Amino acid sequence: MTLLHDYQAGTSYGRRKMPQRDPHWRRAVEPYKSYAASGARVAALARPERLPASDLWQAIRGRRSRREFAPDPLGQETLFLLLWAAQGISEQGPWPLRTAPSAGALYPVETYICAARVSGLAPGVYHWELPDERLALAAARPDAAEAACAACLGQEMVARAPVTFIWSAVWGRSAQKYGDRALRYAYLDAGHLAENLHLAATGLGLGACMVGAFLDDEMNALVGVDGQDEAVIYAACVGRPAP
Ligand SMILES: Cc1cc2nc3c(=O)[nH]c(=O)nc-3n(C[C@H](O)[C@H](O)[C@H](O)COP(=O)(O)O)c2cc1C
Repeated sequence: MTLLHDYQAGTSYGRRKMPQRDPHWRRAVEPYKSYAASGARVAALARPERLPASDLWQAIRGRRSRREFAPDPLGQETLFLLLWAAQGISEQGPWPLRTAPSAGALYPVETYICAARVSGLAPGVYHWELPDERLALAAARPDAAEAACAACLGQEMVARAPVTFIWSAVWGRSAQKYGDRALRYAYLDAGHLAENLHLAATGLGLGACMVGAFLDDEMNALVGVDGQDEAVIYAACVGRPAP
């Protein structure tokens, strides 16, 4: 048995084995994280007036991992669309629902971007603030792309991409309900929103590549999370494909 087998077995549902609420996770966790509330500079991205009319089927067929990017910057409206596709609010209400599904609508995943070349945006690490749909500066650093590249085991595409999305999981949000099974759901949630991003990028004529290979401590440090209650789980770089 490996850790993987232990985890799968330990978090399995069975007719005679449903999980009890684990007291460790009883602590309430905020549904949203806000850097703006702590005084971080906010960048309200230019929003497009309407969503683009892309063909979903062409995007599904055309999606491919792209690792070479042109040097030109990404426009703000384009960045807004990408963020919105991954984690936008698509239905308002007392508990706003998002573009990608989430187990129990608990939304444990947070989105950060490492912006290297976005028109009108200083290079740095930004947090996608929900439910406001705006960016807050988490760390102003001109070397953000290089730091992300190093954390992603030197994968050059990360240094060359105008923007890299970095997703973390706030485990407690989901674990308050699901206990240790929350780990499964957070990764599944991340897969859903990452695919939304990939298809949206394809629909906009951009290229993207998912990144699962990274040094956990360095990625956590880059976005400023502790790696325990909140940890980076996935990333993706996006840009205009090099000709
Ligand atoms: C969970 C996951 C992690 C991945 N991590 C990386 C990565 O770190 N670096 C990379 O170059 N590609 C990465 N990829 C992209 C895969 O290599 C790619 O999806 C695969 O080769 C199939 O090609 P396609 O996406 O063009 O269909 C990852 C994909 C997934 C789904």
